[in-house]
Order: sequence, then structure tokens, then C-alpha cells
Amino acid sequence: MAGIIKAVKGMHDILPDQSARWLAFERIFVDLATAYGYKQIRMPLVEQAEVFKRTVGEATDIVEKEMYSFTDRNEDFLCLRPEGTASCVRACIEHGLLRLGAQRLWYGGPMFRRERPQAGRYRQFHQFGLETLGMPGPDIDAELIIFTHRLWRALGIEGLALQINSLGTIESRAGYREQLVAYFESHIEQLDEDSRRRLSTNPLRILDSKNPDMQALIDAAPMLSEYLDDESLRDFEELRSILDQAGVSYRINPRLVRGLDYYQKLVFEWVGGLGAQSTVCAGGRYDGLVEQLGGRATPAAGFALGVERLLALMAQEETDADRPHASLIVTDQEMMGIGFQFSERLRDAVPGIRLMVNCGGGNLKNQFKKANRSGATVALVLGQEERQAGEISVKFLREEREQIRVDQDGLPNFLSQNGII
Ligand code: HAM
Repeated sequence: MAGIIKAVKGMHDILPDQSARWLAFERIFVDLATAYGYKQIRMPLVEQAEVFKRTVGEATDIVEKEMYSFTDRNEDFLCLRPEGTASCVRACIEHGLLRLGAQRLWYGGPMFRRERPQAGRYRQFHQFGLETLGMPGPDIDAELIIFTHRLWRALGIEGLALQINSLGTIESRAGYREQLVAYFESHIEQLDEDSRRRLSTNPLRILDSKNPDMQALIDAAPMLSEYLDDESLRDFEELRSILDQAGVSYRINPRLVRGLDYYQKLVFEWVGGLGAQSTVCAGGRYDGLVEQLGGRATPAAGFALGVERLLALMAQEETDADRPHASLIVTDQEMMGIGFQFSERLRDAVPGIRLMVNCGGGNLKNQFKKANRSGATVALVLGQEERQAGEISVKFLREEREQIRVDQDGLPNFLSQNGII
């Protein structure tokens, strides 16, 4: 016998007992995005690695250590997409969507990062997100946050906390960066190895360090908020005012910097109770990204949520959305053709009925066992006798009730009158 092959580390199968929850989440997200006027965009899973190097940033963990990249046979340097934003912008530029006016887009699907797997952190994970292009904010920034706020309610998720911050424009951040580097250089002996490396590549990320030995040093570092330009400050104020009026509470976290380089002005995160991997949804404004990918300067903002992390917060409610209403059993394999004819007629007559035809034969007792295991509410039994009489036998699988013979044409009525569909 050949040896078994397992899924790749950090990449997971989503099994049938979980998929109903995924589908329920996806339906709610899609309905809400559509209701807010967002249209779907689907990007390929494989992109030129350059798309992310230029935007997410060469010195970020994602590009430096975590991308699944490879050289294709024709020497193209490709990667599995680690996120959707840069990919979405690449597509908008390539297809001229930005010339058509402001865009409100949503997407969902797998992303790939070679991180160390742990609870809530995977190598293939799934994001759903909104991206908006052509609107400078802060009104659209507020819409993105208000959308997520409504989404949590629609999903029945409580206890997520919103953190917001403004990173200012690239120019104002450059001034801050200089001050920060000078500060850390003067305390270089207190920096850990990782932070020393970041000092030249990405000093703002030092503020994100989780090393407890460096917290005092980080707490005393200069604050970005003191270097913000007037426009960023004004926009941030206005966003706060809209959120206040919309009843969305938030905490300003001046240390929120995010792990991707393309952000400017607003950044935000929704944080839940999952320990180290507690950020469920994150986003912000990325006004420079379109230009970085060769397009005309266009303001833009968006967010993405991690589906695995979100589902872990959703109540594990039993859902019967995928349980069959009925399982059809034919008493004699030779009647299978008639069985399928009958079931197709029933599907025509009762759109949406979840009807499972029992395949694979077996004696009646075994067939009832299978019907029972499928979770069906009733078994519909079609034998020679029923066929000749134009009837069908209905056996209730979930309640003590006499088996009953019903006229085939009257079956749709019977099913609805008895609360089966
Ligand atoms: P991000 O913060 O890298 O941002 O990822 C967004 C969310 O994806 C995280 O908050 C988390 O819930 C989930 N996530 C990220 N990495 C993993 C992982 N290894 N395992 C499980 N879940 C994960 C972005 O990707 C930006 N593109 C967000 C954005 C959209 N900004 C503007 N528009």
C-alpha cells in the first residue's frame, strides 16, 4: 500500500463539518458588501513578486521572509499572493478601472505567508476585504470602519475593540523617522538584535516589538503624533467625529504602525481575545500605492479580515443549513431510473429542497440507517407498490410517527404542511 500524503504544514483542509460556517460567513459578508455598493474583483493567486516588493516593502517580514516565491521556467520571478491589496491595485491599473471613476471593490480568498504556524496563524489563510480607490477620505475611511462594525453585529460577534491611529503623509513620517532613528541610536545598547537590524531598514517597526525588555525604551520614544502634518491631523479629527456620531467606539493607539509599508494617514485594527494572534481585521489608507505600481496618483483605502480568526470568535452554533430535508430510498435497484425521475420532478416542484438520493443500494434496513446518518428529516420510500399506486411512503426519521403513504402529486404540499421544508 502506498504511504499517505498529508497537507502542507500550516495549510488546512476545511472539512464538511466546518464548511457550513464558512458559507454562512461568506454569504453575510457578500450581502453586506453588495448592500454598501461594493462589487467583487477576483485576482489570480499567483502574481509577479515585484507587485508586493514595491508596495508592501522590501524590508517587511512579509516580503523579506514569508513570501512563497519562485522563478518560473521563463525566468519570471513569481509568488503566491501574501495579501490582496497590491494585487487588487495592480488589476485596477492594468484594466483601466481607475479611469472609470471611484471604485468600491470586495474580494475574498486564500493568501499565503510562510510564517511559523500556531493557533490563529497559518501559511495558507483566508482574507475577505474591501478596497476603495479614488476617494481621499476621511468619509470613505469612516464608511470602511462603519461597515466592519455592522458586519460584526450581523455575524453575532461581540467584544472586538477598534484601535485607530494616523501615520501622517510619507513626508511627515520621514521627519519622524529621523528623530526615531536618532533616539534609538543613542540607546543602541538596549536594542535587541531584531531591532538593531530594523534600525536601518524599517525603524518604525521597532515600536511594534513584543520584547518585554524593550518596552520602557519604546514607551519613552518620540511620538509620531507630534510630527503629523496638518492635513493628516484634520482628516483624523474628522474621522473621529464621524465615528462618534455613528456610535462606533474606538481607542487611539499612537503605537499602531502595521506591518506593511504602504500605509499613510489612517490605520486601524479590530482586536479580539485570541492572545498573540488577536488582530481579526486591519486596514487603512494607502494613497501612494497606485503610483508605486505605475498608475496615476490616486487616493485609496481598505481593509482585510482574517476569516479563520473571525470564525474562531463566532459561536459554534449547530447549523442545519446543509442537512437534507429528505432522503429517497428505492426498494429495488432496478427502480433507480424511476427513482431519479421522481426526484427530479420533486426538485422542479419544490425549488430549494435538499433531497439526497440514496445510492449504493443495500437492504432496506441499511438504507434507512444511511438516511438516518445523513441527518435527513424524512425518508421517502419508493417501492413497486408505491409506484403502482402513484404514491410514496414517508418515514419520519426524527420523531415517533407512523409511516404514511402520500399521493406523489400531493407530496410537495404534505412536506410543507408538516414543516419538513
Ligand atoms: P494584514 O494585517 O497583513 O493586512 O492582514 C489582515 C488580516 O489577515 C489580519 O488582521 C489577520 O486577521 C489576517 N492574517 C494575516 N496573516 C495571517 C496568518 N498568517 N494566519 C491567519 N490570519 C492572518 C493586509 O493584508 C492588508 N492587505 C489589509 C488591507 C487591505 N489594508 C488595506 N486594504
